[in-house]
Amino acid sequence: MRPVHGLVALAVLVSLSVAPGQAVAADPRAVAGTGGAVASAELEASRAGVEVLAAGGNAADAAVATALALAVVHPKAGNLGGGGFAVSRFSGRVTALDFRETAPAAALPDMYLDERGQPIPERSLIGPLAAGVPGSPAGLFELHAAHGRLPWPRVVEPAIRLADGFRVSRRLSSDLAEERELLARFPSSAALWLPGGRPVAAGELVALPELAATLRDYAAAGPAAIARGQRAAAIEAASRANGGILSAADLAAYRAVWREAVRFEAFGWEVASMPPPSSGGIILGQTCGILQRTGWASLPRFGAGRAHQLAEAWRRSFADRFLLGDPDRIGFDGSPLLAASWLDLRAGQLRERATRSRKVRSWSEAAGRERGETTHLSVVDADGNAVSMTTTLNGSFGCGLTVDGAGFLLNNEMDDFAAAPGRPNFYGLVQGEANAIAPGKRMLSSMSPTICWRGGELLVLGSPGGPRIPTATVQVLLNVVADGDELQAAVNRPRIHHQWLPDAIFVEPDALAPETVAELERRGHELRGITAIGDVAAVRRTADGDVAAAADPRGGGAAVVQHPAPG
Ligand code: DON
Repeated sequence: MRPVHGLVALAVLVSLSVAPGQAVAADPRAVAGTGGAVASAELEASRAGVEVLAAGGNAADAAVATALALAVVHPKAGNLGGGGFAVSRFSGRVTALDFRETAPAAALPDMYLDERGQPIPERSLIGPLAAGVPGSPAGLFELHAAHGRLPWPRVVEPAIRLADGFRVSRRLSSDLAEERELLARFPSSAALWLPGGRPVAAGELVALPELAATLRDYAAAGPAAIARGQRAAAIEAASRANGGILSAADLAAYRAVWREAVRFEAFGWEVASMPPPSSGGIILGQTCGILQRTGWASLPRFGAGRAHQLAEAWRRSFADRFLLGDPDRIGFDGSPLLAASWLDLRAGQLRERATRSRKVRSWSEAAGRERGETTHLSVVDADGNAVSMTTTLNGSFGCGLTVDGAGFLLNNEMDDFAAAPGRPNFYGLVQGEANAIAPGKRMLSSMSPTICWRGGELLVLGSPGGPRIPTATVQVLLNVVADGDELQAAVNRPRIHHQWLPDAIFVEPDALAPETVAELERRGHELRGITAIGDVAAVRRTADGDVAAAADPRGGGAAVVQHPAPG
């Protein structure tokens, strides 16, 4: 085991704006070191990861410690009651772990429709009827079992300590205020987060004894502490009492699944990202594949030509997303969408003017909004191993219900299914039969945990943001691999987004100069303003072992690095 190292550099990022075309000098808030690095949505969680690195842990130990700490201090998205994906690279070998939620055994295709076949939106979003079978307890344990170095209880320890008492951050306090109405609907959630009817304020000390007890048993017994026995019974009872269908048998039957990562080449870098049941890796691969064929990198940076090609590439990859779903159920893993012949054809469809989305069909000619929260963490260790993990409850604080007797919130991931195929869901995504509800099936995701490497260099990144996850992620990736940005500058740069339907380019403030907007409109694009696209957490390592970590000024995250390298 390695000696403990004390020195840790950290940076808490605050809002920062960068104008288009501006050369971004070294950001004083960027953090750099020579050991490992963690970027996540909360300072205490990134610290938990670096604590575990300093105790001799590797990237898997640190990623799991960070994820569990997020389940305590970032409850809107960090979780035990949700699911996620992790792409890892250990000693050069890439793995992809799928711990996505599944539909409960009693789920029915029309469970969120009224008698006239119309969707009832609240049903797939609020209360435990919206919950899929949680995958995080099995997934985090599995990731550690496969790749971790420290004993399991040591990795859970920081989260237990936090659950015994932590100071509420400004971010958490404002999350609670924002979702007050949802939390107030469920007395078990209100008792924790709205004592006396008001959201816990920043700086107040909060203890979560039931969650701490769950974490202690999880440290001792692994996922069985949650998926079997008393706690599984408590989850079933809480779900039933609030109109849900989740059962103890569903919890016991849940398994995380190892998958082949999506692999592609982008501007001289190798990339590994998440395959279905996430659409993320395929959208990233299609975007890079199309842009490499259309000469995107040689167009002027921040100009209309580049924004146009990005939008056109995304219009087509989100149209193709319509075909995706749980690969184990629909018999289609999406790989033909990354075939050279298909990318040639898609790239060949780009014109000077915008194509209308209704004219863009998925490759088989199939017919054809974001709030909420997800959270991404990126980790490298001093040996150059990496974990990129995105985990979610779907909506902010999931379905709103905290399980009495377990102390954690249940997700509302069922809304990621096409409750009514062909109709937009909560994120405005129009999805197909491939993603219809069926018992035990995994709902389609957009999460894109990604690792890129070129020789000994590494870039680890991902984001929350529903359909804006792959578009935010690929823009940061392109900023680094195609344009050579420093990590923090790459994360800070303003972004744009297109997702096929609605047929519009969404534009962050300052992302496009007025003349660029005018040129895009002339080419037939509709442009709509949007406050923020994604919340990227990224780390980078040079071949010499220098590390940099960056949290996104759009969120309240924090990056922490280990310095100096463990000897
Ligand atoms: O898996 C998905 O694609 C969605 N459940 C992610 C939701 C999300 O990112 C919300 N965060 N802002």
